[in-house]
Amino acid sequence: MNESKELPQFPEPYWRDKLDFPSFPKLKESIKADVGIVGGGIVGITAAYLLSKQNIKVALIDAGVILNGTTGHTTAKITAQHDIIYDEFIKHFGEDKTKLYYQAQMEAKEFIEKTTTELNIDCDFKEQDAIIYTNSDEYITQLENEKKAYDQLGIEGELTDSVPLQVPHKKALIMKNQAQYHPLKFLKRLAEESVKNGAQLFENTTAIDVEYNKNPAIITREGQRIVCQYVIEASHFPFYDGQGFYPARMYPERSYALAVKAKKKFPGGMYISAESPTRSLRSVEIDGEEVWLVIGEKHKTGQGKSTIEHYQALQDFAEAHLGIEKILFRWSTQDLTTLDKLPYIGRVSEEEEAVFVATGFRKWGMSNGTIAAKILTDLITGKESPYKDLYTPSRFQADPSLRKFARINADVAKHLIKGKLEFTDNNIKTLSTDDATVTRINGKRTGVYKDKEDKFFAVDTTCTHMGCEVEWNSGERSWDCPCHGSRFSYTGEVMEGPAKRPLERIDLE
Ligand code: FES
Repeated sequence: MNESKELPQFPEPYWRDKLDFPSFPKLKESIKADVGIVGGGIVGITAAYLLSKQNIKVALIDAGVILNGTTGHTTAKITAQHDIIYDEFIKHFGEDKTKLYYQAQMEAKEFIEKTTTELNIDCDFKEQDAIIYTNSDEYITQLENEKKAYDQLGIEGELTDSVPLQVPHKKALIMKNQAQYHPLKFLKRLAEESVKNGAQLFENTTAIDVEYNKNPAIITREGQRIVCQYVIEASHFPFYDGQGFYPARMYPERSYALAVKAKKKFPGGMYISAESPTRSLRSVEIDGEEVWLVIGEKHKTGQGKSTIEHYQALQDFAEAHLGIEKILFRWSTQDLTTLDKLPYIGRVSEEEEAVFVATGFRKWGMSNGTIAAKILTDLITGKESPYKDLYTPSRFQADPSLRKFARINADVAKHLIKGKLEFTDNNIKTLSTDDATVTRINGKRTGVYKDKEDKFFAVDTTCTHMGCEVEWNSGERSWDCPCHGSRFSYTGEVMEGPAKRPLERIDLE
């Protein structure tokens, strides 16, 4: 834990601090299961729990360690207030579907609350109001329209000129009775319960494909097979596309978080600004002290200014409005947004009966991820789910999806070409320690990082997914791809898909 007003040197999410996680072996041989799950985040672990409770044999694998991906880097708000969306959703999907979306989020909240009580989990679950605030005249009308949408949908809300938040605002929209919790305390227990119910969990085991004989089999990088009846892809970006064309239908964004001990007292509630740059605020208790979580600064992965500047912007905001005493933690996360802002939950494509996917939660993974696990469990066990059609990945909404589709793919095409044409011939002799640059070595665009011991690590910057050029992320010391969000360590290892293979290492000798 950092003990100064300065940004911590290394990113580390608060959620994993001081929590003892069970560790799980690497998969060493081919196995059979009823359901094979790839990804040990909120969807994978919740689905493992729900399925194993019904005596279904589950095998779950994670490429790293469980609960250390997006779920381990969240803000952990359990809310149906997902920015200003209900007015927009009513226009695009109609009142009935929008009501279903709200209902799904509230069902997720009820599930977490009920499970917390049933299993007596100490996970700091607390009811809180969720509040969108604005200080911009432009957004006041949008908040007013959103309140009308709340009324139409029967959502308990209140529009007010003032909330007890120390950040300047002119209007705020409150959604009552939402909640916050410590997601890893909750999910760690669900993982333990799943194991008690007979689920097998494996770490450091990367899935690279699904193959069919009669049944599907998950194929790992080291060649083992998990032969099962159903596959759940809960790996953030689906590792197996199944002709669902996911890279063309989602885009990745990064955002940043600070845990700040501040001079000002937290007023209660969970806040998010309507305007950009987004500021999202909630509190946690760390060692008996109240700490603000300050989150925001989202941008497309691998694009825009140096990533450390995003942390600095949050630091400036916290100093100006809260008064920083200490910055305890900093971390960042990556989220995927779909064409119409609704997650893709269901069969990976119409052709694939046995492979399911859950992705594209657009920052709101606590409620959407929980309901995803419930929907997929229902689909697998043959139970009717009211949300099946709403979230189905094969839905087609002509407007606004098509325009967005064109925009996402034009952006990918631009980055594919731009990176190749760029004149990059920086001198690595002048590189500072703990920094990176892009240069050309033997005609190849090469990324070079110099560590604290002045050791160089060079990689071919061509992303192994579809060939875009990765860019340096100074905040996390990673190479990030602007096209579909793959991320690689400075040694080239895959940190985040869709890429499955590491960047090629270049020898500088
Ligand atoms: Fe798709 Fe890099 S080209 S993630």
